Amino acid sequence: MHDKPVALVTGSARGIGRGIAIRLAREGFTVAINGVTVDPGDTTQGAYEVKTSIELAGGQADVFPADISSVEQRQAMIDAIEKRWGRIDLLVNNAGVAPKVRLDILESTEDSFERVININLQGPYFLTQLVANKMIAWKQVGKIPNPRILFVTSISAYTSSPSRGEYCVSKAGLSMVAKLFAHRLGEYGIPVLEVCPGIIKTRMTAGVTDKYDKLIAEGLLIDKRWGQPEDVAGVVSAFARGNLDYSTGERIEVGGGFGVRRL
Ligand SMILES: NC(=O)c1ccc[n+]([C@@H]2O[C@H](COP(=O)([O-])OP(=O)(O)OC[C@H]3O[C@@H](n4cnc5c(N)ncnc54)[C@H](O)[C@@H]3O)[C@@H](O)[C@H]2O)c1
Repeated sequence: MHDKPVALVTGSARGIGRGIAIRLAREGFTVAINGVTVDPGDTTQGAYEVKTSIELAGGQADVFPADISSVEQRQAMIDAIEKRWGRIDLLVNNAGVAPKVRLDILESTEDSFERVININLQGPYFLTQLVANKMIAWKQVGKIPNPRILFVTSISAYTSSPSRGEYCVSKAGLSMVAKLFAHRLGEYGIPVLEVCPGIIKTRMTAGVTDKYDKLIAEGLLIDKRWGQPEDVAGVVSAFARGNLDYSTGERIEVGGGFGVRRL
């Protein structure tokens, strides 16, 4: 069996997931990088760029393609990681999508609702169920000493944006999923944490740069800057090291003070 702890980071071919994968590799995790479509021939972007970056820095990683909204692909990914390394010590549920088009809640469509809920909520719910059962069994036979599970939700879990209602609903639901698994897995000593990014500079927010530049300049945040993937990775890393185990079931906002009510 592989002698280093293994972290699976979903949606880690770019953005926040990439930042988390690189940070965890630096901290000694072997990283399972996940993306939907991957091109082994391209090491300049996407999953293989992340793998190459990790390896050049002396770390270990491999790519496991899967669409997390597919039952079969989730199962195949976990089987492949088990075959390769025989363990998953940390699951980071990071993959997620915004609606393809921001449509007002009075006009938004069932198709977009289903897509966003399947990827952001149903996928991580059942992926976590699958991995949690493995972790329980592996912990009981002493293969993994400290399994942990983390959910990347959003400030949208508790902030209304009527132009992307389906996204807010998916993240509010995922926030409860984190609590449910924290509760259920407590007896097995598996801590679960929810991390809520605020406004983070990634491809997801590229189309709304002007809007957020303006809001930040006008004082929306205490720390008047965009968040970076590394800001989120810092909290994930503290959790991965065991520093937040007693905070199981809690959520931590990484939003530059977005959530602080101010007068
Ligand atoms: N950027 C922000 O401001 C922000 C704020 C709050 C929360 N988030 C959340 O952080 C997470 C990462 O977002 P990001 O900003 O890095 O976005 P991003 O679009 O740059 O990256 C998302 C990643 O998830 C992957 N992905 C999408 N659908 C997938 C699927 N079905 N199966 C597997 N992988 C899939 C994408 O390929 C991509 O690599 C998401 O859950 C997002 O909702 C982002």
